Amino acid sequence: MSFYEKKWWKEAIGYQIYLRSFKDSNDDGIGDIPGIIEKLDYLKDLGVNLLWICPFYKSPMDDNGYDVSDFYDISEDYGTLEDAKKLIHEAKLRGIRIIADLVMNQTSDEHPWFIESRKSKDNPYRDYYIWQKGKIVDGKEVEPTNWASFFGGSCWQKDELTGEYYMKIFSKKMPDLNWANPNVRKGMFDMAKFWLDLGIDGFRVDAVAHIARSTEFEDSTMESTSKYKPDWRKFSNLPRLHDYLKEFNQEVLSKYDVMTVGEVGGGALPTEAIEYAGLNSNELNMVFNFDHNWCNNVWDLKNPEDPVITNLAHMKDMFEKWQTNLYGKAWNPLYWLNHDQPRVMSQYGNVNKRVLSGSMLATALYFMWGTPFIYQGEEIGMTNYPFKTIDDFNDVSVKNSYQIAISEGQDKDRFIGFTAHRSRDNARTPVQWKNAPCGGFSTVKPWFQVNPNYVSINVEDEQKDPQSLLNYYKKVLALRKHPDYMDTFVYGTYEQVLRKDTTVYGYIRKQDKHVLVITNFFDCSVDVKLDYHVRKVLLSNYNEQHYDLKHLHLRPYESFVVELE
Ligand code: GLC
Ligand code: CA
Repeated sequence: MSFYEKKWWKEAIGYQIYLRSFKDSNDDGIGDIPGIIEKLDYLKDLGVNLLWICPFYKSPMDDNGYDVSDFYDISEDYGTLEDAKKLIHEAKLRGIRIIADLVMNQTSDEHPWFIESRKSKDNPYRDYYIWQKGKIVDGKEVEPTNWASFFGGSCWQKDELTGEYYMKIFSKKMPDLNWANPNVRKGMFDMAKFWLDLGIDGFRVDAVAHIARSTEFEDSTMESTSKYKPDWRKFSNLPRLHDYLKEFNQEVLSKYDVMTVGEVGGGALPTEAIEYAGLNSNELNMVFNFDHNWCNNVWDLKNPEDPVITNLAHMKDMFEKWQTNLYGKAWNPLYWLNHDQPRVMSQYGNVNKRVLSGSMLATALYFMWGTPFIYQGEEIGMTNYPFKTIDDFNDVSVKNSYQIAISEGQDKDRFIGFTAHRSRDNARTPVQWKNAPCGGFSTVKPWFQVNPNYVSINVEDEQKDPQSLLNYYKKVLALRKHPDYMDTFVYGTYEQVLRKDTTVYGYIRKQDKHVLVITNFFDCSVDVKLDYHVRKVLLSNYNEQHYDLKHLHLRPYESFVVELE
């Protein structure tokens, strides 16, 4: 396929729904599928036409649905299969496509395959998962390897019934599937077909970077003070998985007009992304890497109170890396966050200047080439939650890490302070629909607390205010889809300007039109100079009618998009 070949998924505007927190329709405090149906008109009006919905399958909810116990049915928390069919239908009526979250790396420990697998070493399902014997070190039994889990502790869990360990790179209720087993692959492919036949338009493929593992099961020699080594290479981006994905594509995906976006996490290189999502790789259509999500100091803060400062030079390098290395070769998604990241407003924005900083962030990102994925609440500038104690958190990975930290003697308050900046729970508080109890998300106490700032940050108020962030997002998306400019934004070349500047990020998109995007990332004024002539101002977060690029005085967070002569 050529880069310029028109495809609906290259031109789509995506929106991610974390179902549990989106909208509760039946007053049980949990977001659900009928809640999405209620809000389809809102989404259409915003300008999105593709929804990625986080897992809705039956699940014991150890990891809010990423621990699936039945892939063929909907969790009772979220509705019924009929509701899902209705959602697909109602969305189509509004020109909105839906992709499901395909969880292929693991199942729940309550999935029938695992219930069988753990029963005995010769059970026909034993080999559906990854079982190993413990190792004897100094006369004592320890885990088969010293590899860490993403959620804290070891990536192995001992099962007393047979005395062996199963691999679980996430929680102990999420045993990893053994993709080397052809029956596992067939089972997963059949399940994917089931959903495609129901009318969905593709998948966000969860944790796809991990479906192949080093089968040597040798200890990591990584230097690290922790007992279990965070040596993710042992189960990330390994060559075997490309065979599995090619098979998936051939057996399933190639038979439908659908799209896929894989989650490949931090650490994947553009060359690896091209293997996954190259235009002719016959695997996936695009992959999420998280390089630009970590361009500030939240992971290196010395004290929880220290300021979070954007490292724009680093961020510019990350954008450059993905926009230039993949151009013409693969496709990119565009996103500021997802349900695993803190709120972008609290990361790179400014909670005291939400509209200015939020409109700057939208301008900087959504005119690059790639398929946008807005995360629920981003369009109204939702912020991190003021976490105070461990009980305020819900995430299993936070709970695990807390136990470990406390047992190692770490200070509780410091742990909470750091975690409040970094936790993915920040993105998971309910969507703030209006200034009403529970933020209008539900009429009863929700499964997870609403951010108290719903009184001033909510959809209803922003809809009424022409100067709101929500209304700016609508303008951004409308411009991206404008028939005169769409081809330039979707398929045009990307070239950075003002590369060395550490305050301003800007780029030119070129196809039949030449468009310049300029964004001041900080709460200060700055003068820059560019040697172009403006033909027309297309968008500005200061309502500016004209820009003289030769003498450009940018005010705090000032951002604009102009067509050049
Ligand atoms: C992905 C999901 C995350 C989940 C994990 C395990 O990273 O985005 O939410 O916990 O996979 O499925
Ligand atoms: Ca509900």
